[in-house]
Amino acid sequence: MSTAAAVWPPGPGGAPVFGSLFALRRDPIGFLTRSADEFGDSVHYRLGPSAHAFFFRHPDQVKDVLVTHQHSFAKGRGLQWAKQFLGEGLLTSEGEFHRRQRRLSQPAFHRARVQSYGTVMTDYAARARERWRDGQPLDLAHEMMSLTMAVVAKTLFDADVSGEADEIGAWFNNPLAPLIQRLPLPSNLRFHRARDRLDATIYRMIGERRKSGEDRGDLLSMLLLASDVEGDGSGMTDQQLRDEVMTIFLAGHETTANALSWTFYLLSQNSEAEARLFDEVDRVLGARPPAIEDLGDLRFTEQVFAESMRLYPPAWGLGRKAIRDQEVGGYRVPAGAYVLISAFVTQHDGRFFPDPGRFDPDRFTAEARAARPKFAYFPFGGGARQCIGEPFAWMEGVLILATIAQGWRLRLAPGHRVEPQPLITLRPRYGMRMIPERRGS
Ligand code: HEM
Repeated sequence: MSTAAAVWPPGPGGAPVFGSLFALRRDPIGFLTRSADEFGDSVHYRLGPSAHAFFFRHPDQVKDVLVTHQHSFAKGRGLQWAKQFLGEGLLTSEGEFHRRQRRLSQPAFHRARVQSYGTVMTDYAARARERWRDGQPLDLAHEMMSLTMAVVAKTLFDADVSGEADEIGAWFNNPLAPLIQRLPLPSNLRFHRARDRLDATIYRMIGERRKSGEDRGDLLSMLLLASDVEGDGSGMTDQQLRDEVMTIFLAGHETTANALSWTFYLLSQNSEAEARLFDEVDRVLGARPPAIEDLGDLRFTEQVFAESMRLYPPAWGLGRKAIRDQEVGGYRVPAGAYVLISAFVTQHDGRFFPDPGRFDPDRFTAEARAARPKFAYFPFGGGARQCIGEPFAWMEGVLILATIAQGWRLRLAPGHRVEPQPLITLRPRYGMRMIPERRGS
């Protein structure tokens, strides 16, 4: 085996020298989908003279990469450029350092703690809802971004950082950012200035909290008070705290905002599901705001959110790099090769989701879920790197959806083009121009 040439799975030959690199950059979701349809669950790509990548589509293979053989894979260099902003935060760090940070951060995300943020979520959603005017078009994608940003800033460190965050969000979603990060372009200078302002704010807050020793009940307090009981008993340095705050801030708003924008879009196209959703929120809540105790009764609302993240998973693709030879799906992935998996592609697989393009929240009843392999659906990843904010995101998604649905029906503005744009997250390329219509209740 060791002397034989590697046996790659089938795949497109691609262009000379760079193979499939540019096809993958240009239209990653379309390209991955077409190649898996043509070649099967395991696909091989060349990405340069000596760079190889595997794409795995089947849920069992996804489980192998994310869970069973997770220690054979690192997050790789894909996120290196993000480190200049996120430092060694949870999303970008690796190995023992990551494990320690995860242990320290975990209590801040426990269900009971997260539940105490429920009122912030509904209060802010209600405020956004009050600003809208009947019949006046708005960009829902922008509305949802501001809303989830306000929620995370409030729950995380009791502060308002929206000015800087807009700049940083714009920079991060520039597809060329990894290539142009060192050039003295205005967008880079704006990004660096915004990052410096945000840094100064965060360090000031950390300093104040350390001095007062006060537990304000937010995530920053939790992170400040954490100590590594399983390790050496110490806590986080200011630098580590800053990196975690930045990471959670960024990872914690853009994904949820996109999920909500796609959800309202899908509801506007599916009047039967929309009617069932209105029915549920009217029956369970009447005119009072939802509370966390209502979550158990807002089952259909949750199914709608789940089905929306099936069709438009905000984290549409994940990348890894093999750090040792590892077998997956009957193929040997050699150390150094890249591995791609895609929630978008796997969640559109007709073997697990018949008629995959159809929006059908009943795919997420308890029975329907139990009948599928677990990793047929993985909007939050899995294994040791699974999204730490998952309970936060479900709660926020369902509470915001219910609060807005109580007051409004959203119609897609006539002629508005809707197209997913796979950057780090899956955004609506042209925003989401919608027209709110006030509901009777
Ligand atoms: C719908 C909303 C969300 C989606 C779809 C989502 C998705 C994901 C996915 C797929 C990963 C794993 C990435 C990988 O394996 O490479 C991840 C990691 C992460 N997410 Fe989320 N996320 C969401 C919301 C949130 C929220 C609300 C927070 C925090 C408040 C958050 C914080 C994080 C952090 C810190 C990580 C890194 C975890 C680690 O590597 O230890 N996310 N997220």
